[in-house]
Amino acid sequence: MDKNQILDFIPDMIQQAKHARTRAYAPYSNYTVGAALLTMDDVIITGCNVENAAYSPGNCAERTAVFKAVSEGYRQFKAIAIVAGEAALEGTEAYPSPCGVCRQVLREFVNPKDFMIVLAKSVEDYKLFTLEELLPISFGPEYLN
Ligand code: THU
Repeated sequence: MDKNQILDFIPDMIQQAKHARTRAYAPYSNYTVGAALLTMDDVIITGCNVENAAYSPGNCAERTAVFKAVSEGYRQFKAIAIVAGEAALEGTEAYPSPCGVCRQVLREFVNPKDFMIVLAKSVEDYKLFTLEELLPISFGPEYLN
């Protein structure tokens, strides 16, 4: 897929991820995350992290977005933007980064060579990676055919 197909959507994706982040339920970690997933039809589906008093049932923003999208009938995706934790990241070289479980959940539905991950500090300040870069030599559904 042409990367330019995604570039135009990045500012909107980051804005929507920021908005979704305001809805994060993270009373235990206080680390709030927002995600915005771009479908193949150019629809943006957002997600936030949702924690739980029993800890392990908590869900990351990225997976919230993927599960919302799949439950709404979308299974093909172009990109995801992630916004989080500027207090910890400010003045550092670090950008928000998806956990390994979320990388694997994304892998189920996308071509790792094409799918773009936008790690955003702001609309102006972000880094772009393919899923393959963040999850190399990955395991996916085709192994089970
Ligand atoms: N979290 C996300 O939602 N996405 C990430 O990319 C990293 C981690 C959440 C999980 C938990 O609610 C909190 O951030 C601290 O780990």
